Amino acid sequence: MSKTFGDNEAIKGISLDILDGEFVVLLGPTGAGKTTTLRLIAGLEKADGGNILIGGERVNDLPPSARDTAFVFQQYSLYPHLTVYENLAFPLQSPARKMDKAAIDRRCARDGGDGAHRPQA
Ligand SMILES: Nc1ncnc2c1ncn2[C@@H]1O[C@H](COP(=O)(O)OP(=O)(O)OP(=O)(O)O)[C@@H](O)[C@H]1O
Ligand SMILES: [Mg+2]
Repeated sequence: MSKTFGDNEAIKGISLDILDGEFVVLLGPTGAGKTTTLRLIAGLEKADGGNILIGGERVNDLPPSARDTAFVFQQYSLYPHLTVYENLAFPLQSPARKMDKAAIDRRCARDGGDGAHRPQA
């Protein structure tokens, strides 16, 4: 896939094949295009060229919510006014996920702790 911002060729035809469950690290200097690559896969940027396939399905034209990808941002981006539980539960409460409260509770409250405290600033 490729991605250009104005006259800046941020991604010049990267080709990746990642297997299910495989652990892959993108390593490169600042501005190399690591974040842009992840944003293209997640659907937060639209590719100028190439195909993005997830499980064999071309997802180039699917919105992020339909791709079943997860994305952790580089910068600290928790909601400080929400508890740990509420930070974890928030994306799961999206209508697109149709997850009931019991299932959200199981996901967010396991591994001990009640999730009632707030993240430290
Ligand atoms: N929204 C944008 N608008 C214009 N240019 C952008 C945008 N996003 C990224 N770029 C440019 O695309 C190139 C790749 O940036 P990217 O953020 O993907 O790099 P990176 O490898 O993640 O860098 P870092 O290690 O600093 O996080 C850079 O030249 C950057 O300036
Ligand atoms: Mg980056």
